[in-house]
Amino acid sequence: MDIGEIRKEYTQFGLNREDLAASPFAQFEKWFQQAREAELKEVNAMSIATVRADGMPQVRTVLLKLFDQRGFVFFTNYNSAKAQEIDANPQASLLFPWLDLERQVRISGQVEKISKAESFKYFTSRPKGSQLGAWISEQSQVISSRTVLKTLMNQVKEKFKDGKIPLPDSWGGYRIMPESFEFWQGRANRLHDRFKYELNEGHWHINRLAP
Ligand SMILES: Cc1cc2nc3c(=O)[nH]c(=O)nc-3n(C[C@H](O)[C@H](O)[C@H](O)COP(=O)(O)O)c2cc1C
Repeated sequence: MDIGEIRKEYTQFGLNREDLAASPFAQFEKWFQQAREAELKEVNAMSIATVRADGMPQVRTVLLKLFDQRGFVFFTNYNSAKAQEIDANPQASLLFPWLDLERQVRISGQVEKISKAESFKYFTSRPKGSQLGAWISEQSQVISSRTVLKTLMNQVKEKFKDGKIPLPDSWGGYRIMPESFEFWQGRANRLHDRFKYELNEGHWHINRLAP
């Protein structure tokens, strides 16, 4: 298989300095909206890279569930591998691969846990099955088989059969508070448009980067 021959010119759009919003949050919102309108699959899926204690980077997909001027929030298990990495080194890099629009957005920043109240609000909006799932999955731990999950699921179903399912201590949100954003738009001949926003003394500065 010669995958070196897979090649595509990016010609759909361009990104000009004068098109950019002064705030990267506004620019993100504009592109997010366009990605939604284009009906991209899993438009809120993002890769998040963290760094392990030995320096090895780790990347995986999570779902963006909230964004505003404070940052970008996803939910996960607070004992998972990623959570341990964040606890030891609270920095992360996000990537939104909106490839059907020939776009990507990269974001880097510090990470903090969101409040219990915020996590609870989102937790209760989830379907009951997902709420129960949050109770049983010791995310990133080795398990012997799927049967373990089934057994635990039956146990929590029984435990919480009458009444509301409480928020597990081991589950909640993290917020990435951006220090930089990069908006990348594919162009012809690999001469892509890249604009980087960087936070400096409370102000966002924008630079065009070479492709
Ligand atoms: C489309 C997609 C969405 C996902 N969303 C989440 C999510 O929102 N939260 C989460 O903890 N894991 C999510 N996962 C699973 C993670 O990619 C990962 O397997 C899991 O969080 C364990 O990662 P870790 O061992 O590095 O902590 C998602 C995976 C995919 C493919």
